[in-house]
Amino acid sequence: MNAIEMLPSSARYARVVQASKRVRWDIDKDVIRGRGFDAGHKFLPDGLSLADTFTTLSADEKRFVSQIQGRTYANIFGLVERFINAKVLELSQDHWFGDQVALEALIRFSDEELKHQALFRRIDAMAGEVLPDGYRFDVDPNDIARAVLGKSTWAVLALTLDIELFTQLHYRQSIDADTGLSDLFKDVFLYHWKEESQHAILDELEWVRHDAELTAEQRDRAVGEFIELVVAVDGILKAQAKADAGYFTSSCGRVVDEAEARAIEAAFLKAYRWQYIHSGAQHPHFGKVLSGLITDKQGRRIQAALATLQ
Ligand SMILES: [Fe+2]
Ligand SMILES: [Fe+2]
Repeated sequence: MNAIEMLPSSARYARVVQASKRVRWDIDKDVIRGRGFDAGHKFLPDGLSLADTFTTLSADEKRFVSQIQGRTYANIFGLVERFINAKVLELSQDHWFGDQVALEALIRFSDEELKHQALFRRIDAMAGEVLPDGYRFDVDPNDIARAVLGKSTWAVLALTLDIELFTQLHYRQSIDADTGLSDLFKDVFLYHWKEESQHAILDELEWVRHDAELTAEQRDRAVGEFIELVVAVDGILKAQAKADAGYFTSSCGRVVDEAEARAIEAAFLKAYRWQYIHSGAQHPHFGKVLSGLITDKQGRRIQAALATLQ
């Protein structure tokens, strides 16, 4: 345990508010700074796009794949941040007449998540300016948010911590020595991570606080709902892998046969599962917080479910 983890909850909320004020950034002034994308650059680093998995593609084609995945990255975050923000606003009610610092921390969290969604809408549009026509992302963030928020708070917070921890890993991948990576996209990773670090602390505080109010039966049901949510995320990833692989094959300028098309779609899905499920589920801190709340048997149920998504 580090020094901050040992602080009482009230002090940890206060630390989050301080950090949130310190790192606060502006979409135009800090992140975009008048820049646009260049089709000669990769948007996602190889460690996230899993470039090596696309074995039949040339270097230029792999770069195009990273650009498609980068645009989808913006859209997936725009999607998940819709339900994350709604849940945070709902949880803030628990603090209305209590710890006002905790309330401030959650209000700032919500404000930041609204800003992130605006950033990712800009990134999607800017990526569209340099990529060929035909890209599609057909999932409605509001429909997904309504479905997710139909699950228990425990399950939603588990998924949210998973997501907000993996932005750390994504940032670290983006600062690896990867020449040819877009400086603008690198800054998206950097600035997003700066605020997500606080969110992950709040997810944990709220999750543990909420968990203490549950009976063993309620928690056991919530574990099942968390698994359902992960499987639902996987459903979105499967559909998008298919859409993005189709967009690649129709825009790459050469004939792609059936077998190669299937391999490309499988590689997209593998990359998306890595980006949006396994990179968070394997995060040591996620494992640590989760195992502190559940039984070994429940842990094995989750592991078995994750193992089916390979
Ligand atoms: Fe965010
Ligand atoms: Fe966040």
